[in-house]
Amino acid sequence: MAPLRASTVLTSVLSLLSCFQASLVTAGPVNRRSDVLVKDYHPAPRAWAKQGPAPSTHLIHLTIGLSQSRFNELERHLYEVSDPFHPRYGHHLSAEEVHELVKPSDKASAAVHEWLQEYGVDPDQLRYSPAKDWISVTLPVATVEEMLDTEYSVYGHQDGSTVVRTEGYSLPLYVHEHISTVQPTNSWARLQRDQPRTEIKQRSTMVKRSSHVAEVADDWAPPASIPLPANSTIEAVCNFTAVTPDCVRTLYGTIDYEVKAAGKNKMAHTNYLEEATNRSDISIFLGKYRPEARAYAYEFEAISIAGGVLDNGTNVAEEGRDEEANLDAEYMIGVGYPTPLIAYHTGGRNPTYVPDILTSDNSDEPFLVWANYMTGLPDEDIPQVVSTSYGDDEQTVSRAYAEAVCNQFAQLGARGVSLFFSSGDFGVGQDETCISNLDNSTYMFMPSFPTDCPYVTAVGATTNYPESAAWRKLRSGLYFTSGAGFSNYFDQPAYQAKIVDSYVESLGGLYDGFYNKSGRAYPDISCIGQVFPTIWNGTTTGLVGTSGSSPICAAVFALFNDALIAEGRPPMGFLNPWLYSHGHNLFTDVTNGTSAGCNTTGFPTAPGWDAVTGFGTPYLPKLLDAFGLKK
Ligand SMILES: *[C@@H]1O[C@H](CO)[C@@H](O)[C@H](O)[C@H]1NC(C)=O
Ligand SMILES: *[C@@H]1O[C@H](CO)[C@@H](O)[C@H](O)[C@H]1NC(C)=O
Ligand SMILES: *[C@@H]1O[C@H](CO)[C@@H](O)[C@H](O)[C@H]1NC(C)=O
Ligand SMILES: *[C@@H]1O[C@H](CO)[C@@H](O)[C@H](O)[C@H]1NC(C)=O
Ligand SMILES: *[C@@H]1O[C@H](CO)[C@@H](O)[C@H](O)[C@H]1NC(C)=O
Ligand SMILES: *[C@@H]1O[C@H](CO)[C@@H](O)[C@H](O)[C@H]1NC(C)=O
Ligand SMILES: *[C@@H]1O[C@H](CO)[C@@H](O)[C@H](O)[C@H]1NC(C)=O
Ligand SMILES: *[C@@H]1O[C@H](CO)[C@@H](O)[C@H](O)[C@H]1NC(C)=O
Ligand SMILES: *[C@@H]1O[C@H](CO)[C@@H](O)[C@H](O)[C@H]1NC(C)=O
Repeated sequence: MAPLRASTVLTSVLSLLSCFQASLVTAGPVNRRSDVLVKDYHPAPRAWAKQGPAPSTHLIHLTIGLSQSRFNELERHLYEVSDPFHPRYGHHLSAEEVHELVKPSDKASAAVHEWLQEYGVDPDQLRYSPAKDWISVTLPVATVEEMLDTEYSVYGHQDGSTVVRTEGYSLPLYVHEHISTVQPTNSWARLQRDQPRTEIKQRSTMVKRSSHVAEVADDWAPPASIPLPANSTIEAVCNFTAVTPDCVRTLYGTIDYEVKAAGKNKMAHTNYLEEATNRSDISIFLGKYRPEARAYAYEFEAISIAGGVLDNGTNVAEEGRDEEANLDAEYMIGVGYPTPLIAYHTGGRNPTYVPDILTSDNSDEPFLVWANYMTGLPDEDIPQVVSTSYGDDEQTVSRAYAEAVCNQFAQLGARGVSLFFSSGDFGVGQDETCISNLDNSTYMFMPSFPTDCPYVTAVGATTNYPESAAWRKLRSGLYFTSGAGFSNYFDQPAYQAKIVDSYVESLGGLYDGFYNKSGRAYPDISCIGQVFPTIWNGTTTGLVGTSGSSPICAAVFALFNDALIAEGRPPMGFLNPWLYSHGHNLFTDVTNGTSAGCNTTGFPTAPGWDAVTGFGTPYLPKLLDAFGLKK
């Protein structure tokens, strides 16, 4: 596979934007009080086509982000409390302290309320986040169109689903700087699983694009039996075409660790797309692979946010659904037990627009809904690690939206939460899809969101022992490789500068023009990513993906936090500043394999950090030693 030719580049963005701006400035309501200015423009990706105007009575569940005037200060706190060389290391902020930092200025709040009032929005209808930095309200399209000086349309996706969106919107000058983003407007992320159950071949692709889990080749069969280890060497315990919890626990040195702070210390994973952790399946899995944890399948906490679907004992198995949820819970409990698990189920998958019915565009921004739920929790309810195995191409969302969500994650980091996100399953981008949305023709590597957020830890995938970068042919004919890349939205954070720049330099110009050297690079670390025997619908299915890597890395860090908390020390919190300054020395470097994708062989692994496996994989005894903790 040879790299395609780079073509140049993105000048069309500016002309596009200014055309758009010109047309909008002349098009607003006549009696408006002040001039409007384009706030955000983000065109529909190629897979979407405009079908017609949105009916004026269609209801939109509008979410308005107010500028967090002291966000820079919050970010400074985040970096200080996460930096092992800073005197405030580990002094995480309380909920109240964070709310104080992100609450909008009085001026911003007044201006936004004035704006809402100007359009007759009933103040009683407004709902606020605890810091009052997010306002939500349900309004008909006609009102929203006036407020945003734009027109909403019904857009159809190639797969038949439809949404109500607009590519751009404007705001009056007097609120322009006081609002960070308004949604739903121009976010096109696909957090939906909608593949017909018969089309298994294509489903691998779809599933990856939404939930970073991919099925394996047809020739995979569940092992007849996997013996519990009589011999604790990795060679004896691990079969890398059927990676069990005991294999993971041996590989990352957690098998002999005794949990001491269960309860004070918690771990969590997130579910979207109506995935529900299935207690019956999880119980079968644990009975097989972690027998002492079996009963816990019926005990862990499952929380529904915004109508998220929970297993109520009567769910009917639907092709592929719940595979991700089961994989996450089975491996987090399999590794982290008896550390308590919380499974968050956030509702509001892509809201299929139904013509002729006065439905509300129920939240279609589940990352934001989840983040806003979490930032509102009191300190005692916050888990210390959270794993998320969902994402989509960065270019399906606007930069403003991506930044707003990422800033919410920063709040959780400042409060001492480590957020792990799977890095994606198709290396630098899925073959044939690596084209810029801006002109439909520029070839580019395809970074993924939200793993590209600089305030989270992005987790890539490995295989075998000694570990190589993950690589496996899937049923669909596609190849699974560790997701990797450089953001086009988020600047390279200072903590990455030295290490990532020297990796880029070592590439000697390879792929110049295909990726953004000044962007946040990922992944940061990795964990085993293939092949996981997973119980789903009562039987064993073989799954691969960074979808498994992220919960596994999160569970290893849950155990590390357990040791810290047991000694009265703070949990690790946001890992990256520690990781890039010296934590990486404690990781097992992975130096074989590449992040193949976009019809190239992808970035190569290298000693130290690389855009395939980050710094490599964790080994708990080494972490405990370095912190002088009991094993
Ligand atoms: C490893 O697992 C694969 C897939 O389940 C199975 O076919 C194979 O027999 C196993 N190998 C060993 C040595 O147990
Ligand atoms: C453990 O397994 C390894 C690899 O199979 C073998 O070389 C070693 O002798 C075994 N050790 C024990 C104590 O059985
Ligand atoms: C259980 O959950 C399913 C899926 O959300 C739902 O369709 C069903 O009505 C629920 N059943 C009960 C008894 O709550
Ligand atoms: C989940 O569990 C129930 C039993 O409680 C089972 O009947 C159902 O089919 C399971 N599977 C899925 C994928 O929902
Ligand atoms: C789930 O398992 C049941 C019982 O084995 C089977 O009849 C059904 O077809 C399975 N469902 C799916 C979607 O595979
Ligand atoms: C990209 O393609 C889509 C449909 O294929 C089209 O609607 C859109 O205008 C194109 N954008 C550009 C910038 O050419
Ligand atoms: C490259 O990344 C930087 C930093 O995130 C961003 O400001 C810039 O717009 C990106 N360039 C392109 C061509 O996307
Ligand atoms: C390196 O990775 C490739 C797949 O990318 C694999 O075929 C090869 O066996 C690995 N080599 C070693 C030494 O692990
Ligand atoms: C890209 O890779 C796919 C297979 O993944 C192949 O079908 C296609 O022909 C390749 N395209 C180019 C331009 O090389």
